[in-house]
Amino acid sequence: MKMLDAKIEKALNRQINHELTAAYSYFAMSAYFEGISLSGFAAWMMRQREEELQHAARLYNYLMDRGGKSDFPPIGSPQVEFSSVIDVFETALKLEQVNTAEINDLYQLAAGVQDFATLSAMQWFLDEQVEEEKSMGEMLDMVKFAGNDKGALLVLNQQLAKGNAGQNDAPA
Ligand code: FEO
Repeated sequence: MKMLDAKIEKALNRQINHELTAAYSYFAMSAYFEGISLSGFAAWMMRQREEELQHAARLYNYLMDRGGKSDFPPIGSPQVEFSSVIDVFETALKLEQVNTAEINDLYQLAAGVQDFATLSAMQWFLDEQVEEEKSMGEMLDMVKFAGNDKGALLVLNQQLAKGNAGQNDAPA
């Protein structure tokens, strides 16, 4: 296999950073939920954080397998203040949509240099993004249904604590 193109190496490093930034964002969202005593929502966000860390590790492993170099740039501070539960999920859904666009860009870049191995690796991420956007969109719908009904939010909170709602069913 030919050596990793410098543009692809850079883009993979950038994507690792995006995934770590997403993990950091979900960490902050979890902290927000702890702060308003919704520990089920906090646990759900921690599970999203874990997934993002796994995505970063998967990209890193691929980069290493291809003989690439990791550049470890700083990870940006996440948003920590939110106006409501709905605001958190709107922010999270936007984050996933941006991530999808970034993966699409990486895919396009790999296609441009005929890097078929990277295209194959990115296919997994494209499929995963479909699940991630779906899962986040469903969570947003649920909290919108609940609206200002604190009872409904508490029921949802209990279900999330048990892992009974809003699960991303994509393979890890
Ligand atoms: Fe790794 Fe939620 O995208």
